[in-house]
Amino acid sequence: MSSGNSLASFLLLCFFLASAASRLLPGYENHEQWMARYGRKYKDVEEKERRSQIYQENVQYIESFNINAMNKGYKLAVNEFADLTNEEFITTRNRFKAHECSPSTSAFRYENVTAVPTSVDWRKKGAVTPIKDQGQCGKQHKLCRCCWAFSAVAAMEGITQLKTGKLVSLSEQELVDCDTSGVDQGCEGGLMDNAFDFIISNKGLTTETNYPYTGVDGTCNSNEESNHAATITGHEDVPANSETALLKAVASQPVSVAIDASGSDFQFYSSGVFKGDCGTELDHGVTAVGYGTSDDGTKYWLVKNSWGTSWGLEGYIMMQRDVEAKEGICGIAMQASYPIA
Ligand SMILES: *[C@@H]1O[C@H](CO)[C@@H](O)[C@H](O)[C@H]1NC(C)=O
Repeated sequence: MSSGNSLASFLLLCFFLASAASRLLPGYENHEQWMARYGRKYKDVEEKERRSQIYQENVQYIESFNINAMNKGYKLAVNEFADLTNEEFITTRNRFKAHECSPSTSAFRYENVTAVPTSVDWRKKGAVTPIKDQGQCGKQHKLCRCCWAFSAVAAMEGITQLKTGKLVSLSEQELVDCDTSGVDQGCEGGLMDNAFDFIISNKGLTTETNYPYTGVDGTCNSNEESNHAATITGHEDVPANSETALLKAVASQPVSVAIDASGSDFQFYSSGVFKGDCGTELDHGVTAVGYGTSDDGTKYWLVKNSWGTSWGLEGYIMMQRDVEAKEGICGIAMQASYPIA
C-alpha cells in the first residue's frame, strides 16, 4: 500500500472513530447544542445564564465520574435532565408515600417457588410495553408524582400478558384522573397498592389509546373509566427486605418496586450495573421486569423506568442485586408488590 493510501485510510479511520465517539458521548456538547437536541427554551437571558451554569457543572461532574467509571462499574451521561440541579430534580421526593407503619401481612403466593432461572427478561417474553415518559407531571420534575401510576400499570400490563397472551398498553391517565382515593391511605400501603385497589374496585382499566397520557391532573372521563381493557383481581406485597423473596416474585411476573432515585448518579445514569450512591428514602416507583448477571459477574435487577428512552439504557436501568443491605440497593426490596389476575 502506498503511503498516500495509508494516510487516506488513517484519516478515514479517524473520521469513523470520531463520529462513533460523538455518537457514544452525546452529552459532551455545549449548552446551546444540548438545548437544540432537547428543544429546551428559557423564559429570559437570566434563566438561560443560570441553566447554562448548572449545565456546565453537571457536565463536569459526569465527565469526572466517567474518568473513574471502571471503579464503579457503571457510567453516567449528559441526558435531558442536565440543566437541573439535583435539588430541583428531587423536588417531589416527598410525594411518594412509603409504608411507615407495621409491615403488611399480605399472602405471598411465590414463597415456595424454588427453581428460579438464572436470568429473566420479561421483555423477551413479550410482557413489557415500550418505555413511557411521565414528563414533568403536574409541573414537577421527574421523581414520583405520577410514577406510581406508571409502576402499577407496567406490572398490570405484565400479568395481563402472562394470563391472556396479549400485550396491551394500559392507561396511566385514568389512574391519575380517576383514582382520587389513593394518596392518603397511610398504613394501607404504598401508592402502587392504592392504584391496584382502585383498578379492582373500578373492575378494570382502559387502554393507553382510549385514555392517553396528558401529564396533568384532569377530570375523570367516566366513559373511558367504565371501558375495561383488562382487570386484576387482587394484589400482594413481596415480604419486605428480602431480595430472595423479590427474586421469586420477579421470576414469576413483572413487579412494582419503590426506590430512592434522588441521587445525581441516578439522575445521570447511562449504562452498566448501578451500584449507588443512593439511600433508602423511597421516592420513586418503577417496575422490576427481570434480573441477571452482567459480563463482569455483577448480579442485577432489570428495572423499567418512566422517564423516556433518552435516560439510562434506552429507558431501563440495571441495579445491583444481592447487596449486603437487606433493603436492597436504593431500598428496592422494601416495598415491592404485584397484581394478581
Ligand atoms: C408453602 O409451603 C408450606 C408448607 O408446605 C404451606 O403451608 C404453605 O401454604 C405454602 N405456601 C403457598 C403460598 O403455597
